[in-house]
Amino acid sequence: MINSKTDVYGIIGNPIRHSLSPTLHTKMFELYSINAVYVAFEVNDIKSAVKGLRALNIKGVNVTVPYKEDIVGFMDEIDEDAKRLKAVNTVKNVSGKLIGYNTDYLGFTDMFKKGIKNHNVKNIVVVGAGGAARAVVYALYKMNIKSIYILNRTPKHAIELKDDFVRLIDIKISHLNDRKVLSAADVVINCTSVGLNNDETPVNVNFIDKAEIMDIIYKDSSLIKKAKSKGLNTINGVDMFISQAFYAFRIFTGVEFDKNAAYNSIKEGLI
Ligand code: ATR
Repeated sequence: MINSKTDVYGIIGNPIRHSLSPTLHTKMFELYSINAVYVAFEVNDIKSAVKGLRALNIKGVNVTVPYKEDIVGFMDEIDEDAKRLKAVNTVKNVSGKLIGYNTDYLGFTDMFKKGIKNHNVKNIVVVGAGGAARAVVYALYKMNIKSIYILNRTPKHAIELKDDFVRLIDIKISHLNDRKVLSAADVVINCTSVGLNNDETPVNVNFIDKAEIMDIIYKDSSLIKKAKSKGLNTINGVDMFISQAFYAFRIFTGVEFDKNAAYNSIKEGLI
């Protein structure tokens, strides 16, 4: 029941009306009897939005495209991982002090550990070099992976990412359809939005012989669909989505929610 003690949480992004986060967090507030709501804020001006968070004492927000990088400069404090990633996806308001975190890379780590069948992966290929790829590369480094390939359309973006992680992980760079790299891959991780709404794939599936295919987006991309029909092990981004929400919810409330219950709360929206 909403009353005058109800705390407000939400998600900031644009576009945002497709987001499953309000459904998931609201269900978890209900399940754990926390007097709070979680709503979607479609934001046009991030600076004003942050002022609004402070003015209205909104207790916490998640942050999504296109504001994860822009919001960093408005934080009063930022945790180490978010600082390294130069991106914040979770903000907690502690008595007027805004603290920024990044739970995306933790979500990816959980998904990777749970989803990959081959426990002796050697050749890891990341496709893409944007913000999502950055979180994935950081997670791989944190998992003690020493060396990866990045395949990207624009070489400059891949070089920038490599330079940012230069002392942490060895990164080799190539073009999107490097047949040799793709056929030797044990895991291919798609960090582009290619094939979300059409049947394009960022790399040629025919070049992939044995790799497990992982995507960070929770709907099956065309790469996932084609890899599945080829008999390859595929992992879409559902578990990453649930896990990043798990860590955000823990930051907001201190409660560790049941991941199956969280999955059940959004499963109809995944179709
Ligand atoms: P995000 O924060 O979601 O990662 P982003 O920073 O815009 O978004 O990065 C998008 C990634 O998808 C980039 O690697 C981009 O490649 P470029 O560096 O060449 O721009 C990749 N991407 C987007 N559209 C693409 C397309 N049609 N073909 C190939 N790669 C594409």
